[in-house]
Amino acid sequence: MNIPALETRAEYEELMALMLARRSTREFEDREIEQEKIDRILEAASKAPMGIPPSDVEVLVINGKEKVREFSDDMLELMKSQKWIFSKPTLLLMRLLMKREEYELLDKFMNPVIEIFEEMRKEDTDYLLYGAPLAMYFHVSPYADPADPFITATYAMLAAETLGLGSCMIGTIGPMLKSGGKKVKEKYGIKTRNQPGIVVIYGYPAVKYRRAILRNLAKVHYY
Ligand SMILES: Cc1cc2nc3c(=O)[nH]c(=O)nc-3n(C[C@H](O)[C@H](O)[C@H](O)COP(=O)(O)O)c2cc1C
Repeated sequence: MNIPALETRAEYEELMALMLARRSTREFEDREIEQEKIDRILEAASKAPMGIPPSDVEVLVINGKEKVREFSDDMLELMKSQKWIFSKPTLLLMRLLMKREEYELLDKFMNPVIEIFEEMRKEDTDYLLYGAPLAMYFHVSPYADPADPFITATYAMLAAETLGLGSCMIGTIGPMLKSGGKKVKEKYGIKTRNQPGIVVIYGYPAVKYRRAILRNLAKVHYY
């Protein structure tokens, strides 16, 4: 691919229009994603910067609603098997080795979240990957910068937006694959020692957002 001519590059306003239009999509049309669009997302993702070139980011592509559901179910089983880590007795034992924020996150967030996933699954609702027709898991070798898969995934999301696809990052899966899940990693061809990254789900949005949210950073300060 040649470097696009200067006059065809997106201006600030165009990039802003794209970024303001993007919202997390969690409801999808029952429609497959064309291979051409998957290829274009991956092509755009491959242009993301990385800590040290060449990129060490690997992408697991799960194409098709049934396959995404299978992946989601496998991840839920993994979460259930790791639930003891977040149980009160284990957390209390680990308390002294953890930062307060880590302890509170595991106690107040992970525990209830896994329970909600389990309850919803019983009602046949996929609360983890929202019944999406396409998912990608961005992960990276143990030698790379841990930020690399997140940056690559962000490029992929923006590319998806230009192709008329909605998307959503799913942060709950990466941490589960951090140390455990040897079997499930083997099943999906994820190297056991790879650093965890992030899942992005995609699909044709079943709902359209009419208004943009004008978000702000927590703080900007100059020295
Ligand atoms: C790192 C990261 C992890 C996320 N994990 C989840 C997730 O596990 N489940 C979910 O429904 N949304 C998840 N999201 C989506 C956020 O909830 C969403 O981006 C945020 O609420 C802002 O809304 P917007 O994307 O529509 O602007 C995640 C987003 C990011 C950036």
